[in-house]
Amino acid sequence: MKPVILQDKATVAHLFSIIRERETAYPEFSARIAALGTMVIAEALEHAPFKEFTIHTPLEPTGVRRIIESDIVGIPILRAGLGMVKPFQRLLPNASVYHIGLRRDEETLEPDYYYDSLPDDFQGRTIFLLDPMLATGGSAVAAARLVAKRNPAKMVFCGIIGAPEGVRRLESAFPDMPVYLGALDDHLDNTGYIRPGLGDAGDRMFGT
Ligand code: PRP
Ligand code: URA
Repeated sequence: MKPVILQDKATVAHLFSIIRERETAYPEFSARIAALGTMVIAEALEHAPFKEFTIHTPLEPTGVRRIIESDIVGIPILRAGLGMVKPFQRLLPNASVYHIGLRRDEETLEPDYYYDSLPDDFQGRTIFLLDPMLATGGSAVAAARLVAKRNPAKMVFCGIIGAPEGVRRLESAFPDMPVYLGALDDHLDNTGYIRPGLGDAGDRMFGT
């Protein structure tokens, strides 16, 4: 499935001009990642389950479409994915949040698993995987494999920046998974960083 990329929107371009800049300090970096996260997740909610029914305004009945928040789960990939949890919860305060801990091995660039809080069965709920960076795609594919074993109805990936290499890897492992990104960058360098990118998202988000 072709990824949905938001980089041409004026607000998105503005936020990228701040998060990409190396001088941007971490409180501002985190705040701007959260703003971008809100925009990406809001777009990706096109895939959320919803119901249509009639409500009564103070003046008259009207038809509405409402997302079934309790059928939705957000899963940040630690650490950097934590920066997308607040925006997710602001949009969907009744959705559950579980966590997956993965850390890239600096030599092989493959993800090392260290934690998850996943239930045994998602009982057909729709899963939003949250991770700002889709670089080689190894972390996203590993996280999606953990979730796929647990009976989700659907998985959707939400990220801030992707590299073409990561998009291809995720698409080839999960061809039906919608992918939403703030920007699609040029390439991965030989140390696994996205170029032009923003550097190490986790370090910049937490000031480490
Ligand atoms: C970063 C990022 C992604 C991963 C992407 O995490 O947050 O999870 O790299 O790279 P990939 O697509 O090549 O797998 P990292 O492993 O550096 O951990 P951190 O978030 O704790 O810094
Ligand atoms: N992880 C990051 O934080 N940044 C990159 O550019 C690639 C992976």
